[in-house]
Amino acid sequence: MNFDYELVKKILKLKKEKNAIILAHCYQNIEIDEVADYIGDSLYLSQMAAKTNAQIIVFAGVYFMAETAKILSPEKKVLLPSLKSGCLMADMINIDQLRDFKSKYNNVPVVCYINSTAQVKSESYICCTSSNAVNVVKSLNTKDVLFVPDTYLGNYVKNQLNNNVNIITYPGYCPTHLRITPKDVLKMKEKYNDAIVLAHPECHSEVLKLADYIGSTKGIMNEAGKSKNKTFIIATEIGVVDRLKRDLPDKEFILVSNKAICPNMKHHHLEDIYNALLYEQHEIVVDENIIEKAIKPIQRMIAIN
Ligand code: 13P
Ligand code: SF4
Repeated sequence: MNFDYELVKKILKLKKEKNAIILAHCYQNIEIDEVADYIGDSLYLSQMAAKTNAQIIVFAGVYFMAETAKILSPEKKVLLPSLKSGCLMADMINIDQLRDFKSKYNNVPVVCYINSTAQVKSESYICCTSSNAVNVVKSLNTKDVLFVPDTYLGNYVKNQLNNNVNIITYPGYCPTHLRITPKDVLKMKEKYNDAIVLAHPECHSEVLKLADYIGSTKGIMNEAGKSKNKTFIIATEIGVVDRLKRDLPDKEFILVSNKAICPNMKHHHLEDIYNALLYEQHEIVVDENIIEKAIKPIQRMIAIN
């Protein structure tokens, strides 16, 4: 692969001088891995953000991920290399919409997917990620649960719990994952008939019905590594496929649809990481009162893992 190795060296030097770490989500442009300390899914990266002794955290991911890192480590400087990196799903519910949703169901606990704003987290009981959503809902031991913002992840959890919990979902969704259709999966299954399908739970329920394995981005990568199968149809964002092809060259990975790209995840390039470190930009600021409230649902989640 073609990277600017001079720039990589400059970033690594600056990172050391400034006592910084770089966290990268597995949907990032693959060049970012050349300078990243930790690469993974939302849960893993938030655990790393909570643990680190570094002074500066550069988050190569989307806004809510950097915000979560700031909530977990308020004394650290958290930087988002490009401010264009938002998450369309996280922006589908704001605090007023959540309050309105809650008011319709008195005293029902709110589980918020980590793909949500700090304000929404501050009004929720517990957070979850795609890798622990089932366990988080189970841990509540209640009959009813409100689940925001991802209706598909919420329905997936309900299904996993055999409909024993009444999960009332908010109508949010990920536009990238919904671009994957059952027809795409069937077409690829026909073409690669030895392949197994690994899917992210943000996909449409009809897509999930066709999957052999459902899990977080890191879960999908681990499953591909462990599996005896040689060919895999990947139903999530292209970044996962890029990394699988690099890390497991003896296996074959097929992106289910060339529409499975999250444009918001692709704004950070090595140049942006360098500038973020050099100018200490763009710093994530979260109101202290929000941090105080939003940290609780995140810590409740981390405690059950
Ligand atoms: P993961 O937690 O599985 O990495 O998912 C994050 C995300 O935004 C998927 O669209
Ligand atoms: Fe948000 Fe979807 Fe992009 Fe994930 S893939 S960051 S849920 S818009």
